[in-house]
Amino acid sequence: MPDDFERMWTDLAPVGRSTASGGYFRQPFTTPERELSAWFVEQCTARGLRVESDDFGNVVGWWDTGSGPAVLTGSHLDSVLDGGAYDGPLGVVSALAAVDLMRARGVVPTRPVGVSVFVEEEGSRFGLACLGSRLATGVLDWDAARVLTDRDGVALGDVVAGGSSSLLASVGTFVELHVEQGRDLVDRGAAVGVASEIWPHGRYRFDFTGAANHAGTTRMEDREDPMLTYAMTVLAANKQARLAGQRATFGRVAVEPNGTNAVPSSVTAWLDARCSTDDALAELVSVISAQASDRASRDGTSLVVTAESVSSSVAFDPALAAAVAADHEGGDWPVIPTQAGHDAGILSAAGIPTAMLFVRNPTGISHSPLEQASIPDCLVGVSALADTLERLTA
Ligand code: GLV
Ligand code: MN
Ligand code: MN
Ligand code: MN
Repeated sequence: MPDDFERMWTDLAPVGRSTASGGYFRQPFTTPERELSAWFVEQCTARGLRVESDDFGNVVGWWDTGSGPAVLTGSHLDSVLDGGAYDGPLGVVSALAAVDLMRARGVVPTRPVGVSVFVEEEGSRFGLACLGSRLATGVLDWDAARVLTDRDGVALGDVVAGGSSSLLASVGTFVELHVEQGRDLVDRGAAVGVASEIWPHGRYRFDFTGAANHAGTTRMEDREDPMLTYAMTVLAANKQARLAGQRATFGRVAVEPNGTNAVPSSVTAWLDARCSTDDALAELVSVISAQASDRASRDGTSLVVTAESVSSSVAFDPALAAAVAADHEGGDWPVIPTQAGHDAGILSAAGIPTAMLFVRNPTGISHSPLEQASIPDCLVGVSALADTLERLTA
């Protein structure tokens, strides 16, 4: 089994990897991501898993054994721009390795087991995170999704047929293994942890509009500079999030006309905000927006804030989390909240009892090429996942 895990991991390593940064570019429906999807189908076929896909590009490999509600496990194969190797693929490779381990142990599940890959978990191409799982659960309608466009103006409806999904119809429980994206497990000295909840999370577009003008001849007091309003908004977001003990990030910005010698005409920036409660999230975004609007009126610019997506907090099934956490020899795995979004959150919110396992990340860094997990820790994760699946299908 260790050999299977390492072989699969080695297979995936070069796909979509930038030689410049060492990070990954695996945006949905691009060549590297499609190559990974084809690789996944091959791996399922080689294991005798029945492959089922839906009209959105989500795929499940079914181990048709036993009867009744299925136990599904898996994650995603897409990455953020210049992402790490583990966010997503670790959950898919571990799921396949857990099936191998169960079979090597001679386990015969009394319920079907599926290994899943959901498309566009990161929202790095079409802007909406967990796109595939939102479509598969039906919380997002295809008519709303098909018009989402990427940065080149390509619509989702242009790259995938769309339609419907019955992939989750027989699913009774979902388990997602994921690399840890912070440093809680390092601090706690644990190889594996279990998720208690996902913080609420929103993405908001800030459209700052001013007036283009000459960078040399325009007096400083005569400018209507949206970059200035934007810059002050970034500072305000950082300060307010720190004061409130929450998270606020401007990680994406587009400037027009983007020339060195012109005051910009407009700045569009995206705020990613995450808080411990839904109310705290609403309050944080409202304070940041109010400060930004106030600044805009002083700068002679204007601002429109649009909530592009807001996901409420998710509390995972506590009994399931406790059972997964108790499932090892050295004591209980820590049960910890996470500030990262996951397909598991979407399935849980859709009413499917769901659990998440995290594997320690020694750097504590994620959404970066520096994301890490050691092979021994990954193998502890595979074994914990196999134990969980075994118990859920006993
Ligand atoms: C996705 O990984 C997110 O939490 O943004
Ligand atoms: Mn992920
Ligand atoms: Mn991610
Ligand atoms: Mn995620």
